[in-house]
Amino acid sequence: SDLIARNQLQGKRVFIRADLNVPQDDAGNITEDTRIRASVPAIQQALAAGAAVMVTSHLGRPTEGEFKPEDSLAPIAARLSELLGKPVELRQNWVDGVDVAPGQVVLLENCRVNKGEKKNSDDLAQKMAKLCDVYVNDAFGTAHRAEATTHGIAKFAPVACAGPLLAAELDALGKALGQPARPLAAIVAGSKVSTKLTILKSLADKVDNLIVGGGIANTFMLAAGLKIGKSLAEADLVDEAKAIIDMLSQRGASVPIPVDVVCAKEFAATAAATVKDVKDVADDDMILDIGPRTAAQLAEQIAKAGTVVWNGPVGVFEFDQFGEGTKTLAMAIASSKAFSIAGGGDTLAAIAKYHIADKVGYISTGGGAFLEFLEGKTLPAVEVLQQRAG
Ligand code: 3PG
Repeated sequence: SDLIARNQLQGKRVFIRADLNVPQDDAGNITEDTRIRASVPAIQQALAAGAAVMVTSHLGRPTEGEFKPEDSLAPIAARLSELLGKPVELRQNWVDGVDVAPGQVVLLENCRVNKGEKKNSDDLAQKMAKLCDVYVNDAFGTAHRAEATTHGIAKFAPVACAGPLLAAELDALGKALGQPARPLAAIVAGSKVSTKLTILKSLADKVDNLIVGGGIANTFMLAAGLKIGKSLAEADLVDEAKAIIDMLSQRGASVPIPVDVVCAKEFAATAAATVKDVKDVADDDMILDIGPRTAAQLAEQIAKAGTVVWNGPVGVFEFDQFGEGTKTLAMAIASSKAFSIAGGGDTLAAIAKYHIADKVGYISTGGGAFLEFLEGKTLPAVEVLQQRAG
């Protein structure tokens, strides 16, 4: 989808909102550059069309009006310049005017330092809209935030449209959850039910198999009347878990409850792992992964699926002895013919650890935005573009 090219960009000033909010180490080195690489096609398309290109992003959560050196996009400008094979100048104090020529790309310093950005001030958004002929939102990772560069500017810019990354993300999510090839299996795992309750409820209406893992699975095991020893769980959410199980079973869908688990007596990299049948979990056991029989059953469901949505590892995969469950599901996704979509920081780390990135149908650059989409929420940055498009 070449949304930018549909506008006549020759000689036009194009303002691209990207999500270049990447992790950095203490020295400011970028430790993971997926989002920067993902921003390249939009920039290249605009440059190829002869536009004068301005790109901005937030980085971190800086204090408004107080620019600190660690808030700077300088390391990102350097990386972007390498990727584009051309200089990327960094512009400070850019709200009232940006000097940029056709064929040139400049990076506008951390937009969240501007007063009014977070609050989506109309005044700031109008000023920024005046900088450009065309506003392109390519920041899927920030689409759940209504801020001046993701929302307000889209109301006031002469033309506002989605960039290729935002369009691809929405296509992939639409394919997975809009009209999915069935059966639709979702893996929703992680430590807490509370942070994923809205997702679980929203998916309970749609999926054929709701595969739970991690602390979430422990709470569902409690709901199924099983003992989980001293495992992480939220006893106050057992009724919610029961309601979700009921909702699915009424539709003929299922929440597979583990039949075996991997236990330890402590949470540690060196902890000894013991595979146990779920009925044998002792009072002093901590469940840190699904067991091999459970993993094999779930892998079979994934193999039969038409679509798989993956958010969250099913065990403490950072420690190899508790990573087999996540690895088995990752391999099942990799070899399945299903269209698969994955998102979320831990999930991306698992994909990298098991080297399956090129075998996943689509890997989202969104963290919070991906989760809010799964929750069934409207993403404000997308909504405003739809309103503009009429
Ligand atoms: C993210 O990393 O999820 C996005 O860049 C959004 O960042 P935020 O949570 O600070 O708005």
